[in-house]
Amino acid sequence: MSDNRLRLGVNIDHVATVRNARGGAYPDPLRAARIAEEAGADGITAHLREDRRHISDADIDGLMDILSVPLNFEMAATDEMQKIALRHKPHAVCIVPEKREERTTEGGLEVAREENKLAHFIAPLRDAGCRVSIFIAADQRQIDAAHRIGAEVIELHTGAYCDFHAEGKPDESARELEALREMSAYAHSLGLEVHAGHGLTYDTVQPVAAFPEVRELNIGHFLIGEAIFRGLTPAVHEMRRLMDEARA
Ligand code: PXP
Repeated sequence: MSDNRLRLGVNIDHVATVRNARGGAYPDPLRAARIAEEAGADGITAHLREDRRHISDADIDGLMDILSVPLNFEMAATDEMQKIALRHKPHAVCIVPEKREERTTEGGLEVAREENKLAHFIAPLRDAGCRVSIFIAADQRQIDAAHRIGAEVIELHTGAYCDFHAEGKPDESARELEALREMSAYAHSLGLEVHAGHGLTYDTVQPVAAFPEVRELNIGHFLIGEAIFRGLTPAVHEMRRLMDEARA
């Protein structure tokens, strides 16, 4: 496998959102994880929110049992989540901000103001062998802080870039993309591994996939939405194809 290959992490949270709308067991996010894996996902991402609005504790137990690709466990920096992560020791832990009233992870983590607290928070996770990633905006202050606290990975929040694109605001979208480009290169120069995600679609993935410093994209909502129309396997295949084409 070439070193240039960009990894695709498929986020399965919204399979659980649909399941939970009826309170039963269908559709099963573990089945989606297996299909995504067979379709070429390099990893599975799942966010166990404090309010358990989509992924459940049992889903995380199940994913740890069945996956043959790495699990990227997204969580808020709380004692409860830290205990769960230390029990499972997933391949990667991505620390995200969480507000109960938000519909999705709206912004990046404020690392710069919480540096000491976060440094202590991630130390045991690192000691347990988890790759710790911090989900942040394309902001040099936050990248410097993530570096200082000992994170190995940052994931850059692509939501603003994608939102402006969807709203038909090309100048604003281009400005956000430029910040992502510059900050990918900056983070890489510090020795951080760079990931990116949030809101990516077939229309927005390629410019980000083309940044040579970005090693992984985590994509969920669009792929699960697209799976309704064309099935999860073709949806993942098309995303993979676009990523590879952008990278070539
Ligand atoms: N990366 C992180 C850190 C996220 O919190 C999310 C959303 O849960 C994603 C990627 C995927 O975003 P989307 O579902 O919009 O593709």
